[in-house]
Amino acid sequence: MLSSLLSFITSALLVRDAIAWPSAPPAPFVQNVTVFVPPANWPDKGGSYARSVILNQNCEKGEPTILATAAYNAPDGQYFMIHKSTDYGVSWSELSKAYFSGNASLTGGIILQPFLYELAQPFGKYQPGTILLSGNRIPGDFSSTNIQLYASEDKGVSWEYVSTVAYGGPPDTDNGAPCVWEPFILAYDNQVNVYYSDQRDPAYGQKLAHQSSGDLRSWGDVVNDVAYANYTQRPGMITVAQIGNGKWMCSYEVGLWTDPVTGSNDSAPYATHYKIADSPLEFGSVSDNILKTPEGISSAGPYTVWTPAGGPSGTIVVSDSSYDQFFLNTQNGDPNSWKNVSSQGHGVGYTRSLSVLPGNGGKTVQVLNGGMYGSNMTIFSAGDFIVPGPLGHGPGAQGFPACQHNSGGYGHGWGWGSPWW
Ligand SMILES: *[C@@H]1O[C@H](CO)[C@@H](O)[C@H](O)[C@H]1NC(C)=O
Ligand SMILES: *[C@@H]1O[C@H](CO)[C@@H](O)[C@H](O)[C@H]1NC(C)=O
Ligand SMILES: *[C@@H]1O[C@H](CO)[C@@H](O)[C@H](O)[C@H]1NC(C)=O
Ligand SMILES: *[C@@H]1O[C@H](CO)[C@@H](O)[C@H](O)[C@H]1NC(C)=O
Ligand SMILES: *[C@@H]1O[C@H](CO)[C@@H](O)[C@H](O)[C@H]1NC(C)=O
Ligand SMILES: *[C@@H]1O[C@H](CO)[C@@H](O)[C@H](O)[C@H]1NC(C)=O
Repeated sequence: MLSSLLSFITSALLVRDAIAWPSAPPAPFVQNVTVFVPPANWPDKGGSYARSVILNQNCEKGEPTILATAAYNAPDGQYFMIHKSTDYGVSWSELSKAYFSGNASLTGGIILQPFLYELAQPFGKYQPGTILLSGNRIPGDFSSTNIQLYASEDKGVSWEYVSTVAYGGPPDTDNGAPCVWEPFILAYDNQVNVYYSDQRDPAYGQKLAHQSSGDLRSWGDVVNDVAYANYTQRPGMITVAQIGNGKWMCSYEVGLWTDPVTGSNDSAPYATHYKIADSPLEFGSVSDNILKTPEGISSAGPYTVWTPAGGPSGTIVVSDSSYDQFFLNTQNGDPNSWKNVSSQGHGVGYTRSLSVLPGNGGKTVQVLNGGMYGSNMTIFSAGDFIVPGPLGHGPGAQGFPACQHNSGGYGHGWGWGSPWW
């Protein structure tokens, strides 16, 4: 009796652990591998703005599939090329082309600013494990900017148009030109939220805002996240992550900003700022901070993730578009605690993206570098950064983060951002 009871408890515990953190085989360290090189016959070989997503919301086991893309101007249509790795980014192959053809009145032109996301719960007809892809569709006559949403129900093989979240006037970064830019997707509180840069509000040169949807087709009102009383300042390029104390951090650049200490922006054009709020829907009501290290101010196109590795509060890791280095904070985003550390060799890139790989105590952060904006030849590369300090614990650190079938209340957001202790 006792032994069968014990074995029942033991197997229940094992099952619970297996459910909470499906084991992921250890990832090899990737120094710098090529994801994509534009073919020699492409007239425009410049790219930038890499993004990726690790698929785990159907409780996948074994080595995870990573999908990645970057913004290139392909000569044969307006698509994001989707690249796939099933070995933690050691090798990559082309999986599909996600054509942004959902609005028949938009022909020719380009797409910019991709973002990939995996659903952890159903929205409308889309089931958990559906992959979302957003980007900014700009037609050949440059008459509009369009933040469109596409979905793949077969792990990135095929894509369909879902809806347009926001559209605006011609692409023009001058204050007063009513366009939209740079989507970022985060599900929270049973809504999918798309954050973006918005120049349409005449009260602000540019602001950061989000719109929410329960079905991915109709989108709610524009809610401000960062909007300065000073019209000329341009917050842009937002990313959002949940941090170690359960709060939420967004980081962004601020164009046309002046450093109050020096009275100029010489040391940090597009200075990185950030906000920390109780929920990712409440950034509008909290004040912001400057991301300053003892050596300087981070500048342009920041991308933020949190990992449980590196100490009791884990580590916030921020990449920007000006430095090879990363900026780390193990004190829940305390403005006086940012450290500037070597990226361990990933090169500067325009809005590099970061993701925490499963296992290794959350110490492995994968960096995707889509190159510098405006360069005439870009090699899209991937590599790993090892977060200093102790191993972390919890979903994501020992294996995959919680997946949808068994998410068991690990917070509202995506599994990575859900501290469990
Ligand atoms: C297509 O895009 C244009 C330009 O943004 C917009 O005015 C129009 O409403 C869109 N059409 C549909 C069906 O979404
Ligand atoms: C930096 O400041 C100068 C002078 O005020 C301004 O012309 C320039 O646009 C600013 N650059 C950025 C990126 O904010
Ligand atoms: C608004 O910001 C600009 C650029 O930083 C600065 O030059 C100007 O003095 C600010 N205006 C006010 C009213 O603070
Ligand atoms: C980070 O460190 C590098 C190398 O010391 C330095 O060149 C750079 O200015 C620093 N940047 C920030 C934002 O601290
Ligand atoms: C990564 O490798 C590519 C060649 O495959 C090279 O062009 C690039 O400079 C390397 N990046 C870094 C940061 O070393
Ligand atoms: C591409 O850029 C490189 C380095 O910036 C430059 O040397 C080269 O001339 C450029 N090539 C073209 C075709 O513009």
